[in-house]
Amino acid sequence: MMPALRRNPTAVFVDAARSFGDVAYLKIGPRRGYLVTHPDDIRHVLQDNARNYHKSPLYDKLRVSLGNGLLTSENAYWLRQRRMAQPAFHRQRIETLASVMTDAAKETAARWATIAARGERIDVADEMMGLTQAIVLRTLLGADLGPFAGELGRAWTLVNEHIGTNFWSLGLTERWPTPKNRRFQRALDVLDRAVFHIIDERRRAGRESNDLLSMLLFARDEETGQVMTDRQLRDEVTTILLAGHETTSLALAWAWYLLSQHPDVQRRLENELDSVLGGRLPTYDDLSSLPYTRMVIEEALRLYPPAWGISRQALGSDEIGGYHLPPGWLVFIIPFVMHRHRAYWEEPESFDPERFTPERSAARPKFVYLPFGAGPRQCIGNQFAMIEAHLVLATLARRYRLALAPGHPVEPWPLITLRPRHGIKMQVEGR
Ligand code: HEM
Repeated sequence: MMPALRRNPTAVFVDAARSFGDVAYLKIGPRRGYLVTHPDDIRHVLQDNARNYHKSPLYDKLRVSLGNGLLTSENAYWLRQRRMAQPAFHRQRIETLASVMTDAAKETAARWATIAARGERIDVADEMMGLTQAIVLRTLLGADLGPFAGELGRAWTLVNEHIGTNFWSLGLTERWPTPKNRRFQRALDVLDRAVFHIIDERRRAGRESNDLLSMLLFARDEETGQVMTDRQLRDEVTTILLAGHETTSLALAWAWYLLSQHPDVQRRLENELDSVLGGRLPTYDDLSSLPYTRMVIEEALRLYPPAWGISRQALGSDEIGGYHLPPGWLVFIIPFVMHRHRAYWEEPESFDPERFTPERSAARPKFVYLPFGAGPRQCIGNQFAMIEAHLVLATLARRYRLALAPGHPVEPWPLITLRPRHGIKMQVEGR
């Protein structure tokens, strides 16, 4: 199973679910586990009995770059850090950041004007990556990396590809000083330099603002009164920087691709934007009047969930769907599989934002649609990401239509996140 998993992990999980039903036994190298595809069992693992599970050893590979931050830590330490960060993600706080998000999207729109005029092409995956990175830096970390941002983006792509190509293999990461591994190490160093630059700048400025970085810098442990060490800070800032832009950018990139393939949906989206906004930029208050734009994003997240696979390791034994689960076994919960499961979706392969009308969403069983995971370890940036994607798509689709470059191959590439393997080359057309 290992070579197949490494080659095409999403297909392995889709096939296992089709062949074996709600609970599929998997043996991956020395490890054993179940792929779980019944919503009740998913609720059990991610929510009701979440205490019995830690993140699986697959996440150890993420620890190489993210350290022991919110995404990878466990138990009391995780809970303390999550509580510390939570206020930065309250809806009212995000509301105050909406104009920063729209302004960043406006800068992209301005650049696209030149590109459209010259008839040049863009890689929309790169474009969205740069944009969401700028947004997370400005809104949560109060930083602007200037020209260094591009270097950071390239370093992260390299890290992601390096970890991602071996992610599902459960093998040991290579430690030999091969050219490939040395390149990986250099990319990690770039990440570290960027993150310490962000932290040092803020310390030097000595100002206390009310963003997430300040909260992390000034938070004190209730018992010891200690602030975080540099290492702890570095891990949390790296986690927010990376978890906070990569997934959202992919959601947007896939949405642009899907729109280009479905002119009827595109027209409906544009009609909504034209009638609600006229010629204005969207504000936070407009979002509730732009439901179809949101439905397009939700449907893109269904077909191409950026965080396409989640896994856990059992601490104690458990029972799942009538099967015994011994301690140490893994549980795989795969949003990509759930989002295309024939038992829960009509014509699952087709792109149809109408699935996400409030009525139809409410009628769907919970724990089937899981782009942000579920339970206590659900994405802390869920609302942040939805508001950001909503504002960005509204700002850009109001002015531009993107057409896929003729003959450009679009292929989902399941690394840690679900990336387009060859990027997505598109022509920018003004509206
Ligand atoms: C469309 C965009 C996003 C998607 C699809 C996504 C998806 C996810 C998923 C599935 C998890 C749970 C992983 C697991 O259970 O193992 C998660 C956790 C997390 N996400 Fe997101 N995410 C997105 C945006 C964001 C943003 C914008 C931020 C921060 C600004 C963020 C920060 C985090 C953090 C810190 C965690 C760990 C939370 C914890 O365990 O307490 N994410 N994300």
